[in-house]
Amino acid sequence: MQSWRITPAKRVRGMWSPPGDKSITHRAVILGLLARGTTEIENFLEADDCLRTLHIAQQLGAEAERVGEARWRITGRGSESLREPNEVLDAGNSGTTTRLMAGVLASYPIFSVLTGDASLRRRPMRRIVEPLQRMGAHIDGREGATRLPLSIRGGDLRAIKHLTPVASAQVKSCILLAGLNAAGVTEVTEPTLSRDHTERMLRAFGAELETQICTAGAHRVRLHGGQTLEGQKLIVPGDFSSAAFWIAAALLLPGSELVIEGVGVNPTRTGLLEALAQAGVHLEWSAVDEQAGEPTATLRVKSQPLGAMRIGGALVPSLIDEVPILALLATQAHGETLIRDAAELRVKESDRIEAIATELRKMGAQIEPLPDGLRIQGPTPLHGAEVQSYGDHRIAMTLAIAGLIAQGETVVHDVACVQTSFPEFEALLQQLVEYP
Ligand code: S3P
Repeated sequence: MQSWRITPAKRVRGMWSPPGDKSITHRAVILGLLARGTTEIENFLEADDCLRTLHIAQQLGAEAERVGEARWRITGRGSESLREPNEVLDAGNSGTTTRLMAGVLASYPIFSVLTGDASLRRRPMRRIVEPLQRMGAHIDGREGATRLPLSIRGGDLRAIKHLTPVASAQVKSCILLAGLNAAGVTEVTEPTLSRDHTERMLRAFGAELETQICTAGAHRVRLHGGQTLEGQKLIVPGDFSSAAFWIAAALLLPGSELVIEGVGVNPTRTGLLEALAQAGVHLEWSAVDEQAGEPTATLRVKSQPLGAMRIGGALVPSLIDEVPILALLATQAHGETLIRDAAELRVKESDRIEAIATELRKMGAQIEPLPDGLRIQGPTPLHGAEVQSYGDHRIAMTLAIAGLIAQGETVVHDVACVQTSFPEFEALLQQLVEYP
């Protein structure tokens, strides 16, 4: 099993453009598969999760060609049906691949089987199976069709109105993608807005959809079935969730200064910046641009003291993937940080509440798991330890950044999982970090 040995750092310095956004790369491939003509994607995230989506798109009949460094050209199926795959579709570790592709597969008259690795086979699928069955898809699978592998016989879908109990972009996107090829108007209402990359990209590919804010902060999307998508040229913005690890390192290591260029700043993703504003952190922004219907910016991060944070409610979906690194920041913040309303963390690539609390405690943190979040006291000096990733990329990277600010050596075990979202991370431990 691959491990990293991390030694204490002096500071972080430099200029850096994060790799392409994972969520947006998945969607570019899927809409490229469904569209007429060719789609050219620049700054494509060539990490395991997105390559799984790409491979499945090829199994369904898309042509894909690598035309340069992180540049792919995809020729879609347009108004043709998808090709029935002759093998099981393997989503690896990727929940986004599984849930978005399930919506696509359910809407065409083909048979397919979707599976994934041990972590993905443990994750809940009822949240997508139930609405897809209501639309008319025939789905079966383990544990009453609630776990992978799932078999899907699709086609002849009718639109539904669906109310998601938790804000989940994967569930919303699954139903919208199925709705693209269903009879009638599909409507998804979520209690608070989850990341809206699917809606933005559907519009960029020529689809029409209506979005509406309802009472008590709920959000609704409506989409007519039978719309045709046109292939596009797009540049994927830098991944804010990958940048978050280096924002944290620069904030925590005295004397740091890091300029992060071309990072996506879609407000449904940047809740970490709001949390940091609560902590009294000042970040400089400039040059807000727009790529593929998504805003991007350059951020300048300097080390500074942190205050305690209170995280809950509508803020949670916009920082859900940043909670592990936010927990590390909170160990160095003055006061008690409380993170609530984040029970979804228990069904991510690992149970992130238990994983981060257990491993940061080994390094001396005062952190308590709660049913739906974490309570963290700071500031607490961290010391090196032997820690585990639980096969979860975001836990592995959080622990590596913790090792940079700890005293003594930290060994992070089981780090191959970082390939799923951020293959460049290990090299950056040398490129961006100065050691004493
Ligand atoms: C994602 C949505 C989120 C997020 C995941 C990526 C997406 O999951 O945690 O990393 O690309 O749609 P949920 O939709 O389950 O909240």
